[in-house]
Amino acid sequence: MNKRRRQILKELNLLPVWQQKSGTRKQNKPLESQSSEVRNLISPPDPAKDSQQRQEIHQMNWDQLRLAVSQCTACPLHQTRTQTVLGVGDENADWLFVGEGPGATEDATGEPFVGPAGKLLDQMLAAIKLNRGQQVYITNIVKCRPPNNRNPNANEARQCEPYLTRQIALIKPKLIVALGKVAAQNLLQCEDSISSLRGKIHDYSGIPLIVTYHPAYLLRTLPEKAKAWKDLCFAQSTMQSIT
Ligand code: URA
Ligand code: SF4
Repeated sequence: MNKRRRQILKELNLLPVWQQKSGTRKQNKPLESQSSEVRNLISPPDPAKDSQQRQEIHQMNWDQLRLAVSQCTACPLHQTRTQTVLGVGDENADWLFVGEGPGATEDATGEPFVGPAGKLLDQMLAAIKLNRGQQVYITNIVKCRPPNNRNPNANEARQCEPYLTRQIALIKPKLIVALGKVAAQNLLQCEDSISSLRGKIHDYSGIPLIVTYHPAYLLRTLPEKAKAWKDLCFAQSTMQSIT
């Protein structure tokens, strides 16, 4: 780590926070519940309705999008949510950060990344001189909390995808940062591992996209923090080269 990076980290208290929290969080990704599998089988998608909804979403402005998401019942996650979590931040942001889906705190408050992973994300943003209010928009692949914080399944991600696509079209970010495997694989429509996706500039409909670890994973896995820092520096220099 060079001197400047160390100094920035020190000033922002990033090193102690990352170190302190690591190893204290347990992995809690239980297998998908059988009930939602069964529900998906009971109500298979209707292709005509699906494509009409996609077209409608494609035309929406922010107010229409907010309303549509808040009332959405397109996938089984609506049954267990407290509320939808559309996103937060600057609607004309240069930077777009995409996570996986709301957790318990996000489901309770309606804002993405406000729980423990969110605290770390804020530190990560601060390290590259960003904050969630300015030039940054933060959202997730799915807008409703998957029960027990499991990963969203393929059907849920697919049903929710038009909202994210529309958000991106409205925001027109200059750079997208995918946080973790679920975000990266859904945005890039691939099955590749995080380690093979990191360190490259990918393309999302003409917008450069960079992949890094999910902050919840970083809270559990000490050795990957240095790599996440490298990814952020890479994202920062990529942004500098395109603006
Ligand atoms: N993890 C996510 O992926 N998104 C959130 O909003 C919170 C935790
Ligand atoms: Fe609708 Fe997305 Fe919520 Fe599913 S996760 S109900 S598609 S808003």
